[in-house]
Amino acid sequence: MKIRRAVIPVAGKGTRFLPATKQVPKEMIPIINLPMIHYVVEEAILSGIDQIIFITSSGKNAIEDYFDRNFELEDFLIKSGKEKELELIRDIGKMVEVTSIRQKEQLGLGHAVLCAKDIVGNEPFAVILGDEIIRGPRPVTKQLIEISEKNNNGNVIGVMEIDPLETYKYGVVKGEFLANDKKTLRMTSMVEKPRPEIAPTNLATPGRYVFKPEIFDALKIIPRGVGGEYQLTDAINLLAKNSEVFAHVFEGERFDTGNIEGYLNATVEFALMNKDSEVAMRKIILEKIEKYKIK
Ligand code: G1P
Repeated sequence: MKIRRAVIPVAGKGTRFLPATKQVPKEMIPIINLPMIHYVVEEAILSGIDQIIFITSSGKNAIEDYFDRNFELEDFLIKSGKEKELELIRDIGKMVEVTSIRQKEQLGLGHAVLCAKDIVGNEPFAVILGDEIIRGPRPVTKQLIEISEKNNNGNVIGVMEIDPLETYKYGVVKGEFLANDKKTLRMTSMVEKPRPEIAPTNLATPGRYVFKPEIFDALKIIPRGVGGEYQLTDAINLLAKNSEVFAHVFEGERFDTGNIEGYLNATVEFALMNKDSEVAMRKIILEKIEKYKIK
């Protein structure tokens, strides 16, 4: 069955970006001239998704507005003859169908995904976390959808190799690589934020998943887990016991834009990759190396 819907949880408070996030959702903070959430929604669209379900909280209206038409602005741009800008704005408003659901209490990622149950219905779907931008030859969610299709439409978690000392930041998977695909594991279990000494592997998810609707049954029965929150990882773990869950080592570079270092990294990298800003960014970097005697 085609995967049509992606759930994108955006209810978090963004405390690492305070005070900017006092008034602006962290997902709307721009990298160059596009808000972070634009890159994530673009990944979904390029993966064949045609409906985005945002799980939101209060103060997040700017995200929905961004993906909506803005006739007042369009009118202004028409009157001022700014055709290029007009096209850009219109295209964003037409990118994809957007639905939002309020997560009234922040009870964890598992709870956020469960909020989408009625809209997702009885269909497979993707979950994409908005804090992470992944760039590579092919959109990551598309890679996971393909692995799911190849493996009996099973559940698939996108994973990457991480520094073994950083397992405490992620959901970490355990399993056996398939005989015919050394990038895909059949998962036996998953642990949320294990200390390095007890982590089963160094394969961790940056928040890309493809699920069958049965994940909702698991989400309904899990108890509170790490940090007192309903953890998506615990539901995946339950699923791995009763059904097929795969973990796929995706191709692509991950930018953890949920923290300042990852954000700066993405800003410099994207500026260097964009033909409009590449020359300026190279010049800036060289000047700073000289000015601050960076070695
Ligand atoms: C969540 C998930 C975790 C995953 C991480 C990726 O944790 O619970 O399994 O590895 O996202 O960013 P959070 O970072 O929201 O604490």
